[in-house]
Amino acid sequence: MTTAAPTTPAHDRWWEALPAGRGRLRGRAHLTSDAPVLSLDGTWDFRHGMRADGSDLGTVSPITVPGLWQLQGHGAPQYTNIVYPIPRDVPHVPDENPTGHYSRLIETPEEWSATVADGGRVLLRLQGVDSAAKIWIDGAVVGVTAGSRLTQEFDVTDLVTAEGPHLLEVRVVQWSANTYLEDQDMWWASGIFRSVDLLLRPAGGIHDLVTHADFDPASGTGSLAVRACGISGEGLPVRVEIPELEIAADLPAEGGVLEVGAVEPWSAETPALYDVRVASAAETVRLRAGFRRVEVDGDIFRVNGERIVFRGVNRHEADPVVGRTQHPDNQDLDVALMKRHNINAVRTSHYPPHQRFLDVCDEAGLYVICEGDFEAHGFHLDITGEDATGAAERPAASELFRQSLIERTDRFVRRDLNHPSIVLWSIGNEASTGPVTDAMIERVRAVDPTRPVIYEQDYLAEHVDVFSLMYPTHAESEEIGRKDLSDATRAKLRAMLEHLGVTPDEELLADPPALTKPFLWIEYAHAMGNGAGSLKEYMDLVHRYPSLHGGFIWEWIDHGLSTRDAEGNEIFGYGGDFGERLHDANFVADGLVLPDRTPSPALQDAAHHYSPVGLEVSHGAARVTNRYAFRDLAHLRAEVSVDDQRSWTPLTLPELAPGGSAEIPLPALADGAVTVRLLTREAEGPVPAGHVVVAASHVDAGRLAEQFALPAPGAAPTPEGRGWRIGPAELDDLGRLVRLGTLDIADAGVDLWRAPVDNERAFTHVALETRWRRIGLDAARSRLVSIAARDGVLEVTRRLGLDGTALGADVRERYSSDGTALVLEVEVTPSASWPEDLPLPRVGWTLSAPGDLDMVGYLGFGPHESYPDTGGGTTFGAWAATVDDLQVPYVLPQENGNRAGVVSAHVRGEAPGRGLHLRMPEGLGLAVRPWSSAELDRRAHDGALRPDGRTWVTVSAALHGVGSAACGPVPLPQYVLGARPVSFRLALSAPEG
Ligand code: GAL
Ligand code: MG
Repeated sequence: MTTAAPTTPAHDRWWEALPAGRGRLRGRAHLTSDAPVLSLDGTWDFRHGMRADGSDLGTVSPITVPGLWQLQGHGAPQYTNIVYPIPRDVPHVPDENPTGHYSRLIETPEEWSATVADGGRVLLRLQGVDSAAKIWIDGAVVGVTAGSRLTQEFDVTDLVTAEGPHLLEVRVVQWSANTYLEDQDMWWASGIFRSVDLLLRPAGGIHDLVTHADFDPASGTGSLAVRACGISGEGLPVRVEIPELEIAADLPAEGGVLEVGAVEPWSAETPALYDVRVASAAETVRLRAGFRRVEVDGDIFRVNGERIVFRGVNRHEADPVVGRTQHPDNQDLDVALMKRHNINAVRTSHYPPHQRFLDVCDEAGLYVICEGDFEAHGFHLDITGEDATGAAERPAASELFRQSLIERTDRFVRRDLNHPSIVLWSIGNEASTGPVTDAMIERVRAVDPTRPVIYEQDYLAEHVDVFSLMYPTHAESEEIGRKDLSDATRAKLRAMLEHLGVTPDEELLADPPALTKPFLWIEYAHAMGNGAGSLKEYMDLVHRYPSLHGGFIWEWIDHGLSTRDAEGNEIFGYGGDFGERLHDANFVADGLVLPDRTPSPALQDAAHHYSPVGLEVSHGAARVTNRYAFRDLAHLRAEVSVDDQRSWTPLTLPELAPGGSAEIPLPALADGAVTVRLLTREAEGPVPAGHVVVAASHVDAGRLAEQFALPAPGAAPTPEGRGWRIGPAELDDLGRLVRLGTLDIADAGVDLWRAPVDNERAFTHVALETRWRRIGLDAARSRLVSIAARDGVLEVTRRLGLDGTALGADVRERYSSDGTALVLEVEVTPSASWPEDLPLPRVGWTLSAPGDLDMVGYLGFGPHESYPDTGGGTTFGAWAATVDDLQVPYVLPQENGNRAGVVSAHVRGEAPGRGLHLRMPEGLGLAVRPWSSAELDRRAHDGALRPDGRTWVTVSAALHGVGSAACGPVPLPQYVLGARPVSFRLALSAPEG
């Protein structure tokens, strides 16, 4: 169908008008009702152009609604973190403005006409349009949207009731005045990306409904406050029924409070919900009420009277194929994955989510910080270093945006306030503070006085109820817990305020209200690539200081988009992969799950440190600590294994009230390790029966060292050709291992390098990568110093040198054999002049073996990867995997896959008996890969990595921690691999048959 697109008169630059939006109904609750709804989702006609006035629209093609047009073949997405991709020319936008003109025919069902004739109304509802749209029906203007992630409704009764069909047109622009308020760190992409419907609203229908289900922990009883109103805001008498509680009552127009007697309270631990029916004469609305009380009690945040801890994540809406448009299934899947990994809280960073998400949070039990659609970060970034106008123009202090921002706030709170899962409102993210944000906070309180308000950039918590910061160090967090800020921390807060254009009040700074309020990390533990490290130490602080309430890991999911690179490889694309001029590369891939929602090891690590039950296993006993706020442990059972997890025996779990702790005696060790695990007895929501909630091991290092002792030298080294033979091994003239039994070996030697992780890369504030590469640590060169056989041992000394510098390391290798295995003892001594603040990436040993060895069995910690400051949830056992499965496909290739504390391993192929054995009595790190570190280092996308026909085996005696420095602290001192002498030993063999 070709449509004559309405042309906008030249003077009507609706997309730049402020206050934004025209003709919309006031925000209201999203309700489930028996009034008819007609979905307009499906295939629409679409025309694309570059002019908001529609003067250059192209030809018609079909498009899917909901959806983003850049992901449906029109234009391209762009990723920027902070910087605005258009000139900061408030409130204007460039003439070149990607524009999508959507149209379709609509017709209201025949049977609606009677209701309309009786005074009913027809509403057009758009739940998400990025970034602004003007709407027409049959050429008559309906209105203009504002707020990309906010529901907008228009009364279109008069335009759709005459006999149809009618032409609905929605002109969407990519850039608008809204853009300045929506600078979230995510893809710039546009379109009608959430559902569109027509709603029939009967006269006397329940247009809006405000409920509050309270729980009194002292008496165990609940109450339900209800206020309903009609479309013009008038109070509406309603009948309220809660069948399960045998409640049925009529409430007058002004509403009322129903005492409901004893109820099961709602919490994230036990999300009890009650069906509630609210009916007027014309309409019945259904709610699922959760009775709970949220309180800020001094510096303690309570739910139902108990201090709770947020074991949370930040969640954006992302999908590798449809982007911010959500497959309805993604909502359920994300919540299920969260619940299965001990996550109990989610912040809807940085906008109100798809409706379904909140429903699932209510049902499955997650505490939600629901955030408004507001970020203006780009005002505080000066890419030129010469433009200081941003802070002064910031929307937080701009009258120009006041009305739009308050309206946004009103709208998002009203939409969702009936959800029990929401325990806090956040007005937005990274938008500075000023009179406008103060007014937004007040508006939240006016609309919903029952929930506290948080906003991170109120850094001294002058206006908000809960204090929060992003990415503070452990030490700074501890100061907050102790209520004793150091001068340095105070200075940092002052600088942060000044950066936002706010002049700090010195009196407030001296005695910040923040320290009298609950504290949480609104973002922490930046999970970009391999990491974040030291979640354990963060949670230790939460267990020590009651006012520290946990926090929200940044972030849930990598936003990579499925595409192809220039060579045709299938990849998850990030900034720059779509031809963007301005972009922020792979900063968009920093989640606990990969773009396709595969859990990354960081999610396993988080699951461990977020466990509601603390578990520490030591010699002969396990300490169990109940960290639930409300539950005992009756729903869990415990098991122990003393045979490397081949078999399990039940253990009796003591009865433990919340907060309680006890020791369980453990059976004597059969082998070198004991592992305890706690499992669910029954399925609960998305968590299945038999699910491991927490597991931990204790390893008897002395015993393992005995068990895997290295053979004593027997077969003396003999010169052979230009090189040497020792037992099963051949070494060349430079003392390099080149053969073991029938296996040809290459690339053998001390390895100080690992492909940098995101937390070390050039854009981080410490940029270790840059320093490492400057001295050529990725390309160390070896010089043989001496090689000699003595007392049955071949001793090789060499110098590892780095181009252009005298820095390097002295290496001593001692080879011996009992005739079957090659024993290798290595000492690495970094040069004395090594800079104190420059850690080494690794001290280890690498070799490559034939590529047909593609399966690995090992005894050590698994099943997932571990680095010094990660690896929570790994336990000691006998693990098996293919080489492919040992790799973590981080969106940007980087060091990965290390297994810790490995005492023995067998890398083998299909052919019987063919394989490489490793024995490491002290337990070393082990990584086995189908490619080299250099390949990991050079590729930009996981999909571009190429196996090189060799199987690369790296053992690590020491590794530098991964930290969180992409957007947070560097590794804690105990995880820094300072340049110091390191020695290690192992035995290699390739037995046949
Ligand atoms: C925070 C911001 C997030 C994200 C993160 C870095 O400053 O609030 O939106 O940009 O940094 O990944
Ligand atoms: Mg930002």
